[in-house]
Formats: sequence, C-alpha cells, structure tokens
Amino acid sequence: MTSSNESEIPHGTTEGFRRAMRALASGVCIVASRTADGQARGIAMTAVMSLSFDPPSLLLAINRTASLIEPLIENGTFSVNILGEDDGDWCQTFTSAPFDERFKEDDWLDHASGVPVYRRAIATVICDVDAADPFGTHMIVRGLVRDCELGDHTRALIYLDGSYARAAG
Ligand SMILES: Cc1cc2nc3c(=O)[nH]c(=O)nc-3n(C[C@H](O)[C@H](O)[C@H](O)COP(=O)(O)O)c2cc1C
Repeated sequence: MTSSNESEIPHGTTEGFRRAMRALASGVCIVASRTADGQARGIAMTAVMSLSFDPPSLLLAINRTASLIEPLIENGTFSVNILGEDDGDWCQTFTSAPFDERFKEDDWLDHASGVPVYRRAIATVICDVDAADPFGTHMIVRGLVRDCELGDHTRALIYLDGSYARAAG
C-alpha cells in the first residue's frame, strides 16, 4: 500500500472510492417484488448483506431512482434470489432491459406471499420490509426474513472489478 505517491488518488474522493469498491468481490442477487396490480419488478443487486440471525434480517441499498423501489416499499414483501455462477449473462436483463420486459414466466415461480422466486437460484430469501431510510441517492431497506427456499447446491456468481466471475477452487 503506497502512502505518499503523488499519483495516488486522495482518500475520500468519489473516484478513489469507486476504484476501491471495484476490488470488493460480491455475490449477485435479483431482488424482486410486485406492484399493486401484480406486475413483477426486479433488479440485479450486489448491495445485499446479512444483518442478524436474531431476528433473521438483512439490509439492501437500492438506488432511489430504481424501478423496484416503489413497488417493493408499497408491497412490503420482497424476494432476494442468490444467483449461481452460470447466471452472469442471464442477469444482464435485470440491469438494463426495460423494467416491464425482465420476467420470463418459465424462469419464475410465485411464493405464497405472491413475490417472484427464481427457479434456478442457489437460495431465495423472502423478507418483509421492516424499515426504509433514505441516505443520499439510496434507500437503505431493512428486511425481516419470513421464509427461505434452498435450491440445488451450486457455486455463487461473483461480481468483481466490473465483471462477472467464478470463485476459484
Ligand atoms: C452487478 C450489478 C450490481 C448492482 N447492484 C445494485 C445495487 O446493489 N443497488 C442498486 O440500486 N442498483 C444496483 N445495480 C443497478 C441495477 O441492477 C439497475 O441497473 C438499476 O437499478 C436500474 O434499474 P431500473 O431500470 O429498474 O431502474 C447493479 C447493477 C449491476 C450490473
């Protein structure tokens, strides 16, 4: 780690922070919910973290402009679908396709709560919204876990340095 190199990006700059975060490997999830009239909505996300096991809970950071945020908060229930290593191409739909053209029926089931569950997910965690607080450009959503569905074991998709990757080993 350098400390006094003139070419070093100053700590705390947006660009320095962006570059630092590109070095942080993350799992990839599709977080999904439904609008009041039953339309499925979802986006690909890396900002998903386990919060506690007592109570079982997790945190999401969702951009306030994302198509998912309003339906998720209004519905009050959402699914976190953890993707396997073969889903890098498939999940591009959930970052850039029009929001109303993302869900192909064959890929999804309905949970008893009504939210979509991805058939090939490593695991799907169903949560109720416990809190949603704005922070800058994002909403920090706290979810209370109400159900988990475990798929056939496979290895997780990784997002690192702007690309999808497979875990080594
Ligand atoms: C690998 C990856 C991870 C992402 N993670 C997040 C995330 O954690 N939170 C978020 O709000 N958007 C995230 N996005 C962006 C969303 O997937 C989506 O592109 C954006 O919200 C625009 O969606 P919309 O067209 O539905 O509004 C990520 C995109 C990619 C490619």
